[in-house]
Amino acid sequence: MNNFTFANPVKIIFGKGTIKEISKEIPQGSKVLMTYGGGSIKKNGVYDQAVKALEGIEWYEFSGIEPNPHYETCIKAVEFIKEKGITFILSVGGGSVLDATKFIAAAACFEDGDPWQILSKGSEIKNAMPFADIITLPATGSEMNNGAVITRVSTEEKLSFASPKTFPLFSVLDPTVTFSLPPRQVGNGVVDAFVHVMEQYLTYNEGDSLIQDNMAEAILKTLVEEGPKALSDPENYDVRANLMWASTWALNGWINCGVPEDWATHMIGHEITAFYGLDHAQTLAVVLPGVMTVLKEQKSKKITRLGREVFGIKDDNTIERTIKAVEGFFESMGVKTHLKDYNLGEEVVEKVSNRLAERGWKLGECHNITPDVVKEILTLRK
Ligand code: NZQ
Ligand code: ZN
Repeated sequence: MNNFTFANPVKIIFGKGTIKEISKEIPQGSKVLMTYGGGSIKKNGVYDQAVKALEGIEWYEFSGIEPNPHYETCIKAVEFIKEKGITFILSVGGGSVLDATKFIAAAACFEDGDPWQILSKGSEIKNAMPFADIITLPATGSEMNNGAVITRVSTEEKLSFASPKTFPLFSVLDPTVTFSLPPRQVGNGVVDAFVHVMEQYLTYNEGDSLIQDNMAEAILKTLVEEGPKALSDPENYDVRANLMWASTWALNGWINCGVPEDWATHMIGHEITAFYGLDHAQTLAVVLPGVMTVLKEQKSKKITRLGREVFGIKDDNTIERTIKAVEGFFESMGVKTHLKDYNLGEEVVEKVSNRLAERGWKLGECHNITPDVVKEILTLRK
């Protein structure tokens, strides 16, 4: 196990009927900006619950944050914050609203020039406005981590940042708010959380970080067991609760303590979304089986262990069967796994590998996924 430091300050408020608790958690005297997306919270009652909980607090709202949130929209929110003298942000929505909120919180306090540099150059975030969230879509883990991913439409770039200053102060996880998710977002969420675990677990590493591996497998097994039930029995509270907590755990900094990490699937996927607008999880479902296939020697011990522990695969051809099982699981969640399913093909191979070549990135836990290897991976996924 490698050396590591670990701190996660996020207060989690979990369970039915917990939205009302935000009134006790928002610092007294705050001027609050509620951020949200395209209006799902107005249809499922979450907006009304949040408004009720904000009674007696001075608050404003900023809506229209897109899935794969836009830098351009975030900048408008920063202007609004400055105009109104906002001191606290409350994100109400999925990972996109929360990621946008993290960026807005940092950009509103950024004094070193153009805040785009936070994303393009990794400029240090010296200060950020305090914020919290009511998360409505279990997927990203954004509710218990300090990372965010923002898209700049004008340049077709999707870039991430993370900072110790951008952890939420608290996150409300009420599984009942997920009853209203459309099947596509249920599938997306389960696939995203599954792939988060894979990025931190499915490396060359095997046997020297047992607690992380066993925890990772517990999360994967939960997703594999409960994911399909959320599609067939959408109002099953325990299923939703298990999925919500599993997604949070998939990316809250616990399972990556002291282990190598891959993240190639995400980095390739972000480029596909930036160019072609696919949902985040759709790109992951396409790319991961390709990464597993091309890197199967490097990752052989872990793929074998994944097959045995999560999918019950033993004996012959375990690696090939495990890759098929992962692909089959994504398909069973309604998330398609080939470029052709999204009316894409050869053009993606060139465009994405060229972009990664321009960036000079070598991906994966061994930094051996060069643009040529990316071509090989994507060619398999046509
Ligand atoms: O915009 P509204 O109207 O709210 O609708 C949303 C949106 O259309 C809808 N939705 C959310 N909760 C709902 C609901 N509809 C009905 N009932 C509910 N309870 O779902 C749609 C998708 O929402 P979005 O927030 O985009 O999805 P998700 O949570 O999957 O977030 C995806 C974004 O997170 C980034 C992705 O790259 C992508 O931009 N990620 C963030 C990470 C992080 N911060 O750590 C890690 C991830 O790898 C990921 O990259
Ligand atoms: Zn993800």
